[in-house]
Amino acid sequence: MSVLSDPAAHDRVRAVAWRDGALELLDQRLLPAREQRLRFDDAAAVARAIRDMVVRGAPAIGIAAAYGVVLAARARFAADGEAWTQTIAADLERLADARPTAVNLFWAIARMRGRIDALPAGVDPLPALLAEADAILAEDIAANRRMGELGAALIEPGRALLTHCNTGSLATGGYGTALGVIRSAWAGGRLTAVCADETRPWLQGARLTAWELVQDGIPVTLIAEGAAAHRMKQGDIGWVVVGADRITADGSAANKIGTYGLAVLARFHGVRFMVVAPSSTIDMSLASGGDIPIEMRAPAELLELGGTRVAAEGAQAWNPSFDVTPAALIDAIVTERGVVLAPDAAKMAALMA
Ligand code: MRU
Repeated sequence: MSVLSDPAAHDRVRAVAWRDGALELLDQRLLPAREQRLRFDDAAAVARAIRDMVVRGAPAIGIAAAYGVVLAARARFAADGEAWTQTIAADLERLADARPTAVNLFWAIARMRGRIDALPAGVDPLPALLAEADAILAEDIAANRRMGELGAALIEPGRALLTHCNTGSLATGGYGTALGVIRSAWAGGRLTAVCADETRPWLQGARLTAWELVQDGIPVTLIAEGAAAHRMKQGDIGWVVVGADRITADGSAANKIGTYGLAVLARFHGVRFMVVAPSSTIDMSLASGGDIPIEMRAPAELLELGGTRVAAEGAQAWNPSFDVTPAALIDAIVTERGVVLAPDAAKMAALMA
C-alpha cells in the first residue's frame, strides 16, 4: 500500500503500553532530547506520573489510569484478600485526584470500577481488569482512526491546517485525535502544510507535536502562539484543528490554554474551527463550559524555562492549564460517533443518545 493511501504509515509512536506485567510510559517531560521509557508497578506511582506530566493528553491519561487500576487490584488482592474490592477505593481516589480537567481520567476509572463490581467474589481480578484496560486502549485507537477519516473528509484539499498542543499518539492510545485528522488528511494528499503552535508554557507543540510529526514523516512548521493571527491573515489556513479535555452538554470544549484565543482569531479571519475528541471526552453531566474545573499549574512553569528562571525576579505568574471555547465558536465537533456541525445542546444530546 502506498504511503499516500495508508494513514497508518504515519503512526509509529506509542506512549502507553503494558509490558511484562508493568505499565510502561514514554517520559514526555524529556522529549525530544531523550526517549526514555519508565516502568510502573504500583498505582500511586502512576498517579504521580499523571500529575507530573510523564504522561499527558486526555485519552492517554485515562488509559494510564486504567492500567493503574490493574496494578492497584493486583496489590490489593494479594494483600487484602476478599476485602480488596473495598480497599482499592483509596487507590481509585488517588488516581482521580491526579489532574482535574480531562474527564477521560474519571471516565476510565469509573469504567474500571464497573468491571470490578461485576467480578465474582474471590477470583483473581488481574485477567479481567487487564483485558478491560487493553480494551480501553484498543477502542481509543479505533475511535481515533474513525475520527481521522471523518475529520479529514471535512477538509477541502489544498489548504493548510493549524493545530495547538499535542493531540497525537503521545496524547492518546495511538494515532491521535486532532493529529489523527491531520494524519488522515496528510495521507489523503489534502494538506499543503501543517502549522503547530509552540504551546506555552509547557511547549507541547514545539517539543511533542513537532517530534511526533517528524517521527512519522509529516512536515511540520512551528509558529509562536503570538504568530497565529498573522499566519491566518496569509489566507491559506483552512481549519484550526484541536483536541479537547472535556466537552460539555452545550458543545463547549475545554482544551489547552490558548485554544479559546485561536477560536476567536479563526472566526475573525474566516478560518473554520474543528474540535476532535472521542465520546469518552464528552461530559453530559455538565451543562456548560463554565462548569468545567480548570487546572491551575505551578507559576514556575511560566517563570522558568528548563529549570532556569527567565522572568524578572519578583514577578508573579497566573498559569491556568486550560481554557474553554464556547460552542458558538466551534464549526465542527468530530467524534467516533459522528460529526456535529455548529454544535448546540440539542445536537450534543442527539449524538450521545
Ligand atoms: O496538559 P496536557 O498536555 O495534558 O493537555 C493536553 C491537551 O490539552 C490536549 O489538547 C487534549 O488533551 C486533547 S489530546 C488528544
